Amino acid sequence: PKLVVVARNGNERTVEGDAGLSVMEVIRDNGFDELLALCGGCCSCATCHVHVDPEWTARLPAMSEDENDLLESSDHRNADSRLACQIPFTAELDGLRVTIAAED
Ligand code: FES
Repeated sequence: PKLVVVARNGNERTVEGDAGLSVMEVIRDNGFDELLALCGGCCSCATCHVHVDPEWTARLPAMSEDENDLLESSDHRNADSRLACQIPFTAELDGLRVTIAAED
């Protein structure tokens, strides 16, 4: 499936990712170094924060309490905020568009 990634400088790129990876892994594997993902996907660092295009938000799995708590620590949280490591990338998400959140 395809993932559309908007970098912090506004540049948008469509990349191909394997279903079964997390959205964080797809972004990172495609060279977006600004998505630090320091904890490697353990839901403990919040450096994989992305804003999901509003038309997709409702189609994603609900967030866990841990994800919600971590996002609370960000100054840039909004209604479309998610941690990319907590979104499994699936065929149903083909065309998903996410914007890498500003650095905290
Ligand atoms: Fe650390 Fe997602 S990579 S919370």
